[in-house]
Amino acid sequence: RRQRTFAMIKPDAVGKLGEILDVIEGREFEITQMKMVRLTQSQAAAFYREHEGRKFFEALLEYMTSGPVVAMELTGQDAVSRWRATLGPTDSSVARTDTPNSIRALFGTDKQANAAHGSDSELSATREIEFFFPSSKVVDELLPQ
Ligand code: CMP
Repeated sequence: RRQRTFAMIKPDAVGKLGEILDVIEGREFEITQMKMVRLTQSQAAAFYREHEGRKFFEALLEYMTSGPVVAMELTGQDAVSRWRATLGPTDSSVARTDTPNSIRALFGTDKQANAAHGSDSELSATREIEFFFPSSKVVDELLPQ
């Protein structure tokens, strides 16, 4: 089923953006929205609010605000589960043994600096896509007369 998911290249992997885009396109995802942004602490906390209270939360915010991220909407067949499979397990060192061709195995470092994020369900995908890409309005003043 054709579906959308949310993908984010994290600060540790933005220097490998070209190689990661090659993997994405090679696995037949269509990049339907994309932007590079530097998150503020409060934006990172809002995005990861389900992890608030976990012992890694403060370190996660520190990491996610250490440089720009690249946010993407990916569209394709079973995009949510296929993108999660393409990422591999959360911990990059586990990924290197279990799924050596995955993005986290190839481009991540450990369980925190794991190169990229993917939505865990269709519901999270909708929330996360809307978080980064609130529908923009075309205002009359910007239209050619
Ligand atoms: P992500 O899939 O984006 O979702 C939450 C993020 O928190 C995760 O990737 C990691 O970057 C980080 N994370 C999850 N578990 C841990 C952990 N045990 N220790 C440190 N960071 C973690």
